[in-house]
Amino acid sequence: MAAPVRLFRELFFHSTRCPHREICSGIDLLNGMSKQSTWNRFYKMRQEKGEKSFDWFVKYDDIKESLEQYMPNDCAVQPFQLLDIGCGTSDFSSKLFSDIKASKLLYCIDFSQNAISHLVSLNMDSTTSLDHQIQFIIADATSLPFTSSTFDLVIDKGTLDAVLRNDNGADMAVSAISEAIRVLKTNGHFLQISDEQPDTRFELLQQIAMKYNCQLSVNFKQIDTSFGMEYFIYTINKTVSS
Ligand SMILES: C[S@@+](CC[C@H](N)C(=O)[O-])C[C@H]1O[C@@H](n2cnc3c(N)ncnc32)[C@H](O)[C@@H]1O
Repeated sequence: MAAPVRLFRELFFHSTRCPHREICSGIDLLNGMSKQSTWNRFYKMRQEKGEKSFDWFVKYDDIKESLEQYMPNDCAVQPFQLLDIGCGTSDFSSKLFSDIKASKLLYCIDFSQNAISHLVSLNMDSTTSLDHQIQFIIADATSLPFTSSTFDLVIDKGTLDAVLRNDNGADMAVSAISEAIRVLKTNGHFLQISDEQPDTRFELLQQIAMKYNCQLSVNFKQIDTSFGMEYFIYTINKTVSS
C-alpha cells in the first residue's frame, strides 16, 4: 500500500528529535501498521504534541458531497445508526454525524486504547440525548461487539489498508469485511475510503460480496492531487441479510 506522502515526510523529519524513536520513523510506522502497539505509540506521540484530531488521509470536507446519498431523510423515525471502524483520532465521522439532521447514533471503534481515550477527552463537551449520541469503544475490527443487522452505515477510512499489512492480512481483512457486513442492516451501506488501487481491492470485495449475496459497487474519486495520490471510495450495499 502506498503511504500518504505528507504524513511520511512529517514523521521522517520528526524522527531526529522524538523520544519515541521506534515509532517516529515513517518506515517503522508502515511496517507496524497492523499492530495495536504501533498505533498506541503513534496516538500517544500525537497527543503529547498537543494535537487534537488527526486524519490519516482524506478529510470529511473533501468528500462530503459524495456521502450525501447515504444520509437518512430528515424525518426518519428510527435513529440512523453509524459505525466508524478504526476511527483513530479522526473527526471524520463526528463531522458527518453533525450534518445529519435526523436522530442518530454513532459508534466509533478502534483497537488502540490511546486513540479512544484521546477521542473521549476531545468530545467531553458534546451534548447528547438518547437518540443523538456518540459512543467510543475499544474493539477489534475482526470481532465487532455488536449484534447483527444493527447499522445503516459502516465507514472504514484507512483501517483495512492497515489490517492488510499484517502477515496474514488477507485473512484478517476477510474477517473484518465479513464483520462489517454482518452488523449492517439490509439495505445498509459499507463504505471503504482507501488508497488501494481497485484492481487489488475490488477482487477481494467481490469474493466476499458474492459469499454474502450483496450488491457491490465501486466509485473512484481522486482527492489529493497535490501529492499525486489517488483515493477511492468502495461501497458494499447489503441487499440480503446474512
Ligand atoms: C490508517 S489509520 C486510520 C485512522 C482514521 N480512520 C483516519 O482516517 O485517520 C488506521 C486505524 O485503524 C486502527 N486499526 C488497525 N487495525 C485495527 C483492528 N484490527 N481493529 C480496530 N482498529 C484497527 C488503528 O489503530 C488506526 O487508528
